[in-house]
Amino acid sequence: MSTLEIRDLQVSVKLPEGELKPILAGVDLTVKSGETHAIMGPNGSGKSTLAYSIAGHPKYEITGGQVTLDGDDVLAMTVDERARAGLFLAMQYPVEVPGVSVANFLRTAKTAIDGEAPKLRTWSGELRGAMERLHMDPAFAQRNVNEGFSGGEKKRHEIMQLELLKPKMAILDETDSGLDIDALRVVSEGVNRVRAGGDSGLLLITHYTRILRYIKPDFVHVFVAGKIVQEGGPELAEQLEAEGYERYVSAQV
Ligand SMILES: Nc1ncnc2c1ncn2[C@@H]1O[C@H](COP(=O)(O)OP(=O)(O)O)[C@@H](O)[C@H]1O
Ligand SMILES: [Mg+2]
Repeated sequence: MSTLEIRDLQVSVKLPEGELKPILAGVDLTVKSGETHAIMGPNGSGKSTLAYSIAGHPKYEITGGQVTLDGDDVLAMTVDERARAGLFLAMQYPVEVPGVSVANFLRTAKTAIDGEAPKLRTWSGELRGAMERLHMDPAFAQRNVNEGFSGGEKKRHEIMQLELLKPKMAILDETDSGLDIDALRVVSEGVNRVRAGGDSGLLLITHYTRILRYIKPDFVHVFVAGKIVQEGGPELAEQLEAEGYERYVSAQV
């Protein structure tokens, strides 16, 4: 049983000139294992900033607040310490890693997170099974990470990592963007398998409601102008689908 606690988180983005532009204006959120939370908000509201800040991206400066995982100070950890502590981020725009094959990347990540190398015999089967479930050609294992992958292939690869690494807390940033309807279903099924395992807490970030037809969140948070402005259950996603963000956005200006 794990708990990710975000308290009054304030974050600025570091601009190239060295100035700080405030983005997150005090975010409070608690995610426990077995729970699925959706963060929904318009473009530019700071959703990716929240995801990157928890993961430890150097572009963002924390100017206030706390993030803890089971009481441990996440903000004091390096990026790889955060991963080893059980945090996982599926990025909105996954990066290409030339020269590193998918198979090597996954085995190295699994070894780092578990503290020991996975058993060769069972590992190759696990890898093959995960690729099969996500309808990925086995040839992907030998390709370089994300190099030349289509948008949908990148997202499947992110979900494959999620299934194999079994993090305590996973943040999925716009995992639905750029997916056609078949890929959306395959990716959603992968997320639902992880969810059914009950060991991970999931934070789904999205600006569309369509992924929520496949993955039913337990909690929905509306995110506007760097903070959560409304919270509710799955019915809130349906209301957003019908009405959009307009009333929340206009309340903020
Ligand atoms: N390097 C940057 N320079 C200026 N503004 C930035 C930079 N990076 C992010 N921002 C701004 O931060 C805000 C939040 O961005 P982001 O977290 O990506 O939003 P979302 O994921 O909700 O679309 C946006 O207004 C964006 O323009
Ligand atoms: Mg974003």
